[in-house]
Amino acid sequence: MADPRSEAARRRTFAIISHPDAGKTTLTEKFLLYGGALTTGAGSVKAKGDRRSATSDWMELEQQRGISITSTVLQFPYRDHVLNLLDTPGHRDFSEDTYRVLAATDAAIMVLDGSKGIEAQTRKLFEVCRDREIPIVTFINKWDRPSLDPLELLDEIEEQLVLEPVPISWPVGDGDKFRGVIDRQKNEFVRYTRTARGATEAPEEIVDRARAAEEEGKLWVEAEEGIELLDTIGRVFDQKRFEAGELSPVFFGSALTNFGVRLILDAMVDLVPSPSPQKDRDGNPRSLESPFSGLVFKVQANTDKNHRDRVAFMRVCSGRFERGMVVTHGPTGKPFATKYAQSVSGQDRETVDEAWPGDVVGLVNANEFRVGDAVWVDEPVLWPEMPAFAPAHFRVVRTLDTSKSKQFRSGINQLDEEGVVQVLREPDVGDQAPILAAVGPLQFEVAQHRLENEFGSPVEMVPCTWSVARATDQESADKLRGMSGVTVAHRSDGELLALFESPYWLQRLETDQPELRLDKLIAEGT
Ligand code: G4P
Repeated sequence: MADPRSEAARRRTFAIISHPDAGKTTLTEKFLLYGGALTTGAGSVKAKGDRRSATSDWMELEQQRGISITSTVLQFPYRDHVLNLLDTPGHRDFSEDTYRVLAATDAAIMVLDGSKGIEAQTRKLFEVCRDREIPIVTFINKWDRPSLDPLELLDEIEEQLVLEPVPISWPVGDGDKFRGVIDRQKNEFVRYTRTARGATEAPEEIVDRARAAEEEGKLWVEAEEGIELLDTIGRVFDQKRFEAGELSPVFFGSALTNFGVRLILDAMVDLVPSPSPQKDRDGNPRSLESPFSGLVFKVQANTDKNHRDRVAFMRVCSGRFERGMVVTHGPTGKPFATKYAQSVSGQDRETVDEAWPGDVVGLVNANEFRVGDAVWVDEPVLWPEMPAFAPAHFRVVRTLDTSKSKQFRSGINQLDEEGVVQVLREPDVGDQAPILAAVGPLQFEVAQHRLENEFGSPVEMVPCTWSVARATDQESADKLRGMSGVTVAHRSDGELLALFESPYWLQRLETDQPELRLDKLIAEGT
């Protein structure tokens, strides 16, 4: 009989973060290939355009911009385990969304381009992971191309991210001469053979060290020197430090040619912790065997023009989920019948009949569900609050077609509930011209695109001079409202935000009038 504890032990739930183009999509695809979930014959892996629409990037805007905004969840088997891969947006402007997704994962893979090392967005997204205190596995990709010196890359990780990199695999050669990797733990050389565009698993050969030295010559000598150095400086894997986010196991490979893909998948099973009891708002863990509970970490509407509905993505935290069961929606206390429960991958939807801790279920038409909400059966639970990030960009938005005011309003509400942007309202202005607040400006593009395309309301987005926001209270707000250079607006989560044009002015105010409540909002890396 299946039970939550043993089912959780078989599961691994993780996300991939990377700077755009480092190879997240390719690696995801290869995971599916190795998991047997993607059956492709040689040469049938699709070109990028098709491939993007076939997997996770389905939104028109994403295709135009070549970025991934929306998150998808993929589930695939590997060895005798079930792997749940949660996609995160590939742009730092959506780091708030990434932060929420990471609330539902137990680890992340950080993909680096071997010729570029740490790029701007890798750092941002890494900081989000650090805030979430989740273990990070590093995959240094594109080793089939001329790459940086591997030791240099390790230094970069250590210095820039303050994370100790511990190579588990070590490359033999690079570029055209990339022959394979040494598995440091098993002390063996894994040599690969390329297949056309990596359409099938790369044939692997385990070669003993004496033969490798003979056959690989100079490349082998160089690789051994690297490993000796790692041994000398004591780069040894430590499970506890990995789980504490202090150390990252590093793998070298090439997602395109499949080199090293199996090793990193093995690491997901062997190193990444399985779902464990989640802590509630008071810090008390809810055991895996407790009655069913889940955490809503993403809400998404209109993902598919044919369906036009709204899906709340929920991670199962305890117990067993069974489609059709009636759960309680924590914040409203209302019952919700989970008649339509799905796993959603891009445009493919499949009905989910059963799920266990670590799995993700998309609940269709869960209209009142918001990010951070708890759902449960029998024993109530309240999850830790899901904080909103400090916005740094602001626009006033208005509809350009007043006959579409109703559509405009419902569009704004929808975007607000999904957390696409934060929506602020000034008491005297109300609904016609709300303020949109964002972590990064690309969020406005998404909002505008969706208002126009999904809700049929063309809008103008008027840039604003505010540059910094602070949380305040009613008493301080009354005082602030009389001052110039500051605006106070309500956010829909009930928070009162004071928006300042000048950070210097804000600083002065903080010094001169310390009695005013002006609290910093959470930002990544703080
Ligand atoms: P992303 O999701 O992180 O944005 O990156 P994606 O996987 O889309 O990869 C970006 C580009 O890098 C793609 O090339 C992809 O083929 C290539 N790539 C990914 N992994 C490797 C690798 O291990 N080695 C090499 N040499 N290239 C890799 P593209 O030209 O943009 O698309 P395509 O036409 O090749 O599909």
